[in-house]
Amino acid sequence: MNNTLLIILAVALVAVGVVGWIILSSGDDLPEAAESADHVYVTPVPTESSTTPSAESEEEPEPESETETAVSESTTSVGIWAVDGVVDLGEYVHSTTVSDVAVHWSNDGNLLRIALESPGTGYVSIGLDPVDRMEGANFIIGYVQEGEAYVRDDFGTGPTSHAADTERGGEDNVLSFAGTEWADHTVLEFVIPLDSGDEMDKALVPGRTYDILVAYHDLQDGFTSRHSRRGEGTITLDPAS
Ligand code: HEM
Repeated sequence: MNNTLLIILAVALVAVGVVGWIILSSGDDLPEAAESADHVYVTPVPTESSTTPSAESEEEPEPESETETAVSESTTSVGIWAVDGVVDLGEYVHSTTVSDVAVHWSNDGNLLRIALESPGTGYVSIGLDPVDRMEGANFIIGYVQEGEAYVRDDFGTGPTSHAADTERGGEDNVLSFAGTEWADHTVLEFVIPLDSGDEMDKALVPGRTYDILVAYHDLQDGFTSRHSRRGEGTITLDPAS
């Protein structure tokens, strides 16, 4: 009897072993399921290195260089801008041409950035919102001499005259400026407040369209020479965002 029981037990053990081997062997027949489980786990879980660049790309790019005044250089939704006497592609939102002077501008709710590119090597100027010919306009006049840019904030004192704000109880409200002079053209860039609060300026309102005067001299620098060419145009400011 004892021998019979032992034989039965041995047969049962062998049977369990065989069944177990079959089950384990059948697991080897499912490599795809195992692989796909591994793949699903590894692939969709973001790794540290895959999240870092996108987090970095949300940061604003650094300005190319630092300058003394806070408004001289910045990053806007339209790219990097710099008051450096160079008009880069996309640096200004708007452009027009008046008497062969390219006028570029961008504004937010507080500041107006302007670049003037004249086909001369003398002064170049813009008059904003004139009332009667030159009278009542806020003039910004500038030129480049021996590599140095000079800019003055003027006011149209009569139909064919203007004077420095500082000579008439006002202030020079140009916040930042730069210029470059080339063999055949001059570039002047500057930033002014939309509303300086100075009586010798014109308060400008975002979203509105303004008449402008533009003038330049072919050769002569300075703030008082009559223009060799002048013209009129309009600019429309962007609404404050
Ligand atoms: C001291 C400097 C300046 C002098 C002596 C001067 C003088 C004159 C004179 C005599 C006229 C009338 C004759 C003409 O049409 O040419 C005139 C017109 C004009 N000037 Fe000037 N100007 C000076 C600066 C400027 C500046 C800086 C601008 C613009 C940024 C400007 C824009 C104009 C315009 C647009 C007219 C035509 C106005 C019209 O007929 O409706 N001028 N200027």
